[in-house]
Amino acid sequence: MDNRSIGVFDSGLGGLTAVREMLRILPDEQIVYFGDTGRVPYGSRSPKIITQYARQDAAFLMSKNVKAIISACGTVSSVAGSILAKELSVPFTGVLEPTARAAAAATINGRIGVIATNATVNSGSFQHALHAISPKLQVFARSCPLFVPIVESGFMLDHPDITKEVAETYLAPLRNEKVDTVILGCTHYPILKSIIGSVMGQDVRLIDSGRETALFCRSLLAENHLLAESNHGSCSFFVSDGMEDFSRIAGIFLQEDIHSSVQLVDIEKYEGAIS
Ligand code: DGL
Repeated sequence: MDNRSIGVFDSGLGGLTAVREMLRILPDEQIVYFGDTGRVPYGSRSPKIITQYARQDAAFLMSKNVKAIISACGTVSSVAGSILAKELSVPFTGVLEPTARAAAAATINGRIGVIATNATVNSGSFQHALHAISPKLQVFARSCPLFVPIVESGFMLDHPDITKEVAETYLAPLRNEKVDTVILGCTHYPILKSIIGSVMGQDVRLIDSGRETALFCRSLLAENHLLAESNHGSCSFFVSDGMEDFSRIAGIFLQEDIHSSVQLVDIEKYEGAIS
């Protein structure tokens, strides 16, 4: 048993797709969430910068004495996941393995679409993870760079029709490939799940990287004897900019007023060693 917090991070709002599920399946846990809203998006940046940001994000969470770290970010998981796993002194997971496993289990025709950021698609990370499970799987990857700013700005709330047009442009090629399963490989994308689902059609299974990672987190804690005793779970939020916008949109997504639990952090201070 361990009552320390779990640290979760993403470039912005996307990791809340994991947090929402964690609050449901791990109700006794305290969560410290960091959204790097001052430097989002990560997905259009170079591996060097993404790795530097990921180390700083992890160092900030380590300063909060967390017992485990979850990179609820497909981009960081793809580009710097193995580096963090090696460097951190606490258990760590990214989104890749849990999400790839769920997709491999869900597909019937063996044709899997992956939608994610440019950095994730360029890294080939989901292809590798899926082929490690079964080399027979056929993988069709596509980046959807406009989805992250659409979510971060809350654009989809006021303009669902334009958001759907953007989704149609990105997803039509995957529909033509007759995939029966699509990995939402950027954790921002499950926030657009109903729009993506309506474009792909109801027979296509959508695998939510945030949700799968939250489920995996439960087994990671259990295996390491780190589950919390029965207490009041809670979540505190830290962001690197734009507290008001984050609080508003995150509150709508989590269906809770979180204004009083959001604080600002100077993330550039967290340079250097992370463990
Ligand atoms: N939510 C992130 C991901 O899962 C990052 C998106 C971004 O900042 O570009 O890839």
